[in-house]
Amino acid sequence: MSTAGPAAKAHEWIAVLDFGSQYSQLIARRIRERRVYCELLPHTTTAEALRRRAPRGIVLSGGPASVTAAGAPDCDPAIFDLGLPVLGICYGMQLMGARLGGEVRAGLRREYGPATIEVCEAGLLFRTLPRQLAVWMSHGDQVETPPPGFRALARTETCPVAAMEDPARRLYGLQFHPEVAHTPRGAEILDRFVTDACGCAGDWKMSTFAEESIAAMRERLAGAHVLLGLSGGVDSSVVAALLHRAVGDRLHCVFVDNGLLRDREVEQVEDTFGRAFGIDLHVARAGPLFLERLRGVLDPERKRKIIGATFIEVFAEEARKLGDIRYLAQGTLYPDVIESISPGGGPSVTIKSHHNVGGLPPDLDFELVEPLRELFKDEVRRLGRELDLPDYIVDRQPFPGPGLAVRILGEVTAERVALLREADNRVQEEILKLPARRDIWQAFAVLLPVQSVGVMGDERTYENVVAVRAVQSLDGMTADWFRLPHETLDRIATRIINEVRGVNRVVYDISSKPPSTIEWE
Ligand code: XMP
Repeated sequence: MSTAGPAAKAHEWIAVLDFGSQYSQLIARRIRERRVYCELLPHTTTAEALRRRAPRGIVLSGGPASVTAAGAPDCDPAIFDLGLPVLGICYGMQLMGARLGGEVRAGLRREYGPATIEVCEAGLLFRTLPRQLAVWMSHGDQVETPPPGFRALARTETCPVAAMEDPARRLYGLQFHPEVAHTPRGAEILDRFVTDACGCAGDWKMSTFAEESIAAMRERLAGAHVLLGLSGGVDSSVVAALLHRAVGDRLHCVFVDNGLLRDREVEQVEDTFGRAFGIDLHVARAGPLFLERLRGVLDPERKRKIIGATFIEVFAEEARKLGDIRYLAQGTLYPDVIESISPGGGPSVTIKSHHNVGGLPPDLDFELVEPLRELFKDEVRRLGRELDLPDYIVDRQPFPGPGLAVRILGEVTAERVALLREADNRVQEEILKLPARRDIWQAFAVLLPVQSVGVMGDERTYENVVAVRAVQSLDGMTADWFRLPHETLDRIATRIINEVRGVNRVVYDISSKPPSTIEWE
């Protein structure tokens, strides 16, 4: 498979050179929130390559290294001669200090966490801000003396140059991180750079992205047919809506009903994509096959492997029925595209494997189309709204590929899937009533492999236990259990016990990730 390059390019954009900070993506996000398109590029990107793509400005990100160490990540020094505004953040500022003739010193002690800076000269960056500012620091090295042409704008007790600028060359440095929430006025500082220094108008709109992306796809896919594995999740749904506008009936969607989906999920996909959009949709009803293969399997990893392999098999069979198709579309998102430096020195792109329909048999050889490669999740949701997808798809929670099977501890049987689906449906209905529902990353029911004693009427029962899990999270990597109101918990428990046969006890999962995971298997 080969991967296509980016689809649509906005005209006005900012380049962020990545020196490895955990916050690099956050810088890109913050700039896009100012409605200016922004891309993260490897720090080795040359000045010439940047000149060709003509960004309005360049940000040098933070990074874990010390500029004073041998082999520390560097940038092409010609970047400072492009005549473009450059903002160095943390490591980026230290690099700027070192490259342009200032004095950088390994810090006597690491400064990490909240700090207050004293603004001694407003310059361009602090023009609209008070003299004292709460910021988030995370550094070991610091600029002791700014390079010639620069002046210090701010300091802390331990850091003599917490910010600097060279107004003539439009070069700026911040020792702290304006992109994190712990720097409450950080967005304004980035605004000054993007708007005032770089002159960006901030007119990047989702509707423009949609139009440009559809036009680019139409051109690239002229006359060709495209296959898409539709999962019912947000990403593949948005890809479907976008590609349908670009290629119409040359888009063919395959939806594998593995029998492990949530209540009404199959019907919703058929209603939305088959009926409302009129997309050529092929639903492979393979529930019985998946259940057959899962019979007697208890081990979570084996379950996942069986489901993954069966999915590929079913998907491939459907794909073959559709004849010779050249392109395969995928809902790869920006955070999945990890740009790293290959041994040869050039940028290379790795994609997290679980987002791929990887492992297709060799007779199915496709070129990939990834129209969401440049977008973050919330941007994909905005794009979905732009393309008239209904709220129940755009606001959908993440759902694991192996579906309800990893929420049924122990053996997966048709009865247990039906029971969990019913219980989960009660959780979803109650969560939908909450004003704070958008703060919840995922909420769902889990069927435990234990039975417990209860009493209903005059009779003792010995039935299943359902666990309810609700978490808040930014990216699924870490998560905290969600403090659901007691009334909501009460309604969920009462409804599950009264309305779902075979359950006599409901418990609430109050563990965070780490050390627990979001899913139970
Ligand atoms: P864990 O359980 O590892 O889950 O904390 C983190 C996030 O990933 C989702 N998840 C999956 N998504 N295929 C997927 O597409 C999978 O096999 C899979 N397993 C877990 C999970 O729902 C949560 O959002």
